[in-house]
Amino acid sequence: MTDIERLKDMDYDEFETSINDIWKAVIKKVDVMITNSKDKSPHVSVDGIYDNMRLDWWTSGFWPGILWILYDMSKDEVYRQIAWDYDKRIEKCFIEKSNLHHDVGFQFLPTSVIKYKLTGDLDGKRRGYEAANFLAGRFNIAGRFLRAWNQDKIGWSIIDSSMNISLLFWAAEEFNDPRFKHIANAHADTVLKHFIREDGSVCHIVSFNPESGDFIESLGGQGYGPDSAWSRGQAWALYGMANVYKYTGETKYLRAAQKVANYFLAALGDDYIPYWDFRAEKLDGEPKDTSAASCAASGMLEIAKHLTPEEGRLYKEKAKKILFQLTREYSTFDRINYEGILLQGTGNRPAGRNVNVSLIYGDYFYVESIAKLLGWEKSIF
Ligand code: GLY
Repeated sequence: MTDIERLKDMDYDEFETSINDIWKAVIKKVDVMITNSKDKSPHVSVDGIYDNMRLDWWTSGFWPGILWILYDMSKDEVYRQIAWDYDKRIEKCFIEKSNLHHDVGFQFLPTSVIKYKLTGDLDGKRRGYEAANFLAGRFNIAGRFLRAWNQDKIGWSIIDSSMNISLLFWAAEEFNDPRFKHIANAHADTVLKHFIREDGSVCHIVSFNPESGDFIESLGGQGYGPDSAWSRGQAWALYGMANVYKYTGETKYLRAAQKVANYFLAALGDDYIPYWDFRAEKLDGEPKDTSAASCAASGMLEIAKHLTPEEGRLYKEKAKKILFQLTREYSTFDRINYEGILLQGTGNRPAGRNVNVSLIYGDYFYVESIAKLLGWEKSIF
């Protein structure tokens, strides 16, 4: 049996001792993607071929992010060279007609900011600052939220921004300018107040009156409905709130992260991979979302880092269970020429877009999680 065949056949008690082999499989997969797609901006892989999405699309940071993690783990110059230009290319979207919005954290943290952290590149630092200013400029003071998107309602805010505000915390620290931190804290408090429900479930969109800042209503967005629990939204929230704790040290954010993680874990079925929404009607037969699984796993590893070993064990163990299951049942390691690591991601089920595909952000959070299990300490988010 080859190492790859063994990964697809392992039992959970073999997972811990297989992490190095999983990492080797990740490297093989990334090397194939480099050969086929190195300058692309991959977003969705259908039938094993990644597309080449426009650079202003919210996912343009994830492929270079994977390359920067591999570079940091291996110090292999090939990864650094291929990752190097992405922030310069994405920066052009600031001065050309484009559609950058609340997701610039997803685009610039895994490109310019990590590039600056790993290499000291001052253009990376400057671009990270530019992106942080852009994100801060989307803050609605009356409602204390970051505005979502550009075309939709001006008073909309979404749970995805929980992950993007790490860019503001980074800028506050790096430039010794607390304005960025004040905005990030205010938005995070709005998430606690209006997005995270009593039971730990989370809604995707909240609509506010952009003049008065008053709450109007919750909306389903990419989830099943206003009262549902879009699984990737849960993942953004639990990981995002853990990050807010990391930057602020305020316990309320860690407890919120735990509460959302507890809901996520309670709602998972036996195979540890969530359906696209935990509250979709008749879950049986509905698509799964492996990107929610990998992002939640990485977020749970982050939560565990900030707890005592006794308290953190639950989250670390469950993250490992999710990663085991992703590796054994949902990975493409046995199909070496397939571009994409995880199968069965769901982009936007209500819109019928990108269902049952490989998603670059699902791949990114899987790679990040495995790197964390191998001891990688430098976080991107
Ligand atoms: N940030 C958009 C999504 O999670 O699909």
